[in-house]
Amino acid sequence: MSTPFEPGVPSAEGFIPLCVPEIRGNEWKYIKECLDTNWVSSVGAYVNRFEEMVADYVGTNHAVATVNGTSALHVALLVAGIEPDDEVLVSTLTFIAPANAIRYAGAWPLFIDAEPEYWQMSPQKVADFLERECNFQDGEVRNKHTDRRVKAIMPVHILGHPVDMEPILDVARKYNLVVIEDATESLGAKYQGRMVGHLGDIACFSFNGNKILTTGGGGMLVTDNEAWANKAKYLTTQAKDNPVEYIHHSIGYNYRLTNLQAAMGCAQMENLDRYIATKRRIAATYSEAFAEVPGLTPMREATWASSIFWMYTLLIDESQYGQDSRQLLRRLQAAKIQTRPLWEPLHRSLAYTQSQPRETLAVADKLNQQALSLPCSVGLTAPEQQRVIKLTIEEQR
Ligand SMILES: Cc1ncc(COP(=O)(O)O)c(C=O)c1O
Repeated sequence: MSTPFEPGVPSAEGFIPLCVPEIRGNEWKYIKECLDTNWVSSVGAYVNRFEEMVADYVGTNHAVATVNGTSALHVALLVAGIEPDDEVLVSTLTFIAPANAIRYAGAWPLFIDAEPEYWQMSPQKVADFLERECNFQDGEVRNKHTDRRVKAIMPVHILGHPVDMEPILDVARKYNLVVIEDATESLGAKYQGRMVGHLGDIACFSFNGNKILTTGGGGMLVTDNEAWANKAKYLTTQAKDNPVEYIHHSIGYNYRLTNLQAAMGCAQMENLDRYIATKRRIAATYSEAFAEVPGLTPMREATWASSIFWMYTLLIDESQYGQDSRQLLRRLQAAKIQTRPLWEPLHRSLAYTQSQPRETLAVADKLNQQALSLPCSVGLTAPEQQRVIKLTIEEQR
């Protein structure tokens, strides 16, 4: 078991950011090597090495590095055979990128509510939807309301905690659906001892600035399916059938990660387990401090899960706490402490009015009102965390 990092230096002028990168390994060295050798673009040893490191870590046979997590999701949908006008079941309580990727593929998202314990996609709601709202005929699922083919489930492991996957995999098998994990927020999390990203048919990670591991911007698609991995590499590199003569048989994308970014990724991978240990320690300190405070519900970890606590989040019940989540946000903001609510649930998003009626998905709606994410950078110092805790529980005194 690796040891957590020692506390870093306090941030400038007392400002405590929500979640910033941790760059204290070989990043400079590896990036300098790229600059010194002129290997800065989308071909280079670090791209291959970064892919091997992530595949080894997650346990998949293949990995394909991309410019960001959204492009990884887009290509994952394409190689998994999602076609225009197909439908894909996806979490409603998530950052918008997975739904956007579904639309880029010409398919339609169907938003599924969260479960109340760990705030992830509800397996029960997935099963209910397939059983009650769909017909299953000739190996295909059709939405009774739209008559579109339902082709895939995209569980999003939000905030560093896994979705309860077993029941989702069961219904996927029963209804012949592809499972595409959006694991962008949860690299290193485990479900029943198995790595997130190696539970469904294909999975995606993001390495943008606020993720547990960052390359500035970047993403990765992982799978055991060799044909899908090869196709993903082909599509992400402009679909070159003959790279010398510039012959293309398909429309590809310029989605490949650069060697410079991959160099940073390799350096970050060397420290991933320590980042996770530190995140878990930060979470444990918060959860202990908030456990007895009326109206505060700390983020939980299921017995079947190992969370990386990527983004530490708290629920605030105004009737007991005395302030709602946005009031607490403003109070902490005035003290130069950055916090953030969870995303507007996608079934409410004006970007998705066409996708389905804007019905109530009650759990996600409640979580959206009550949740607030607190500073949890790997470099958060103990005094900084104590300041956040003190101000958060102050209202109760
Ligand atoms: C759940 C989720 N999916 C997808 C993405 C997209 O990743 P990226 O920003 O690297 O495109 C993000 C984060 O940004 C995310 O949080």
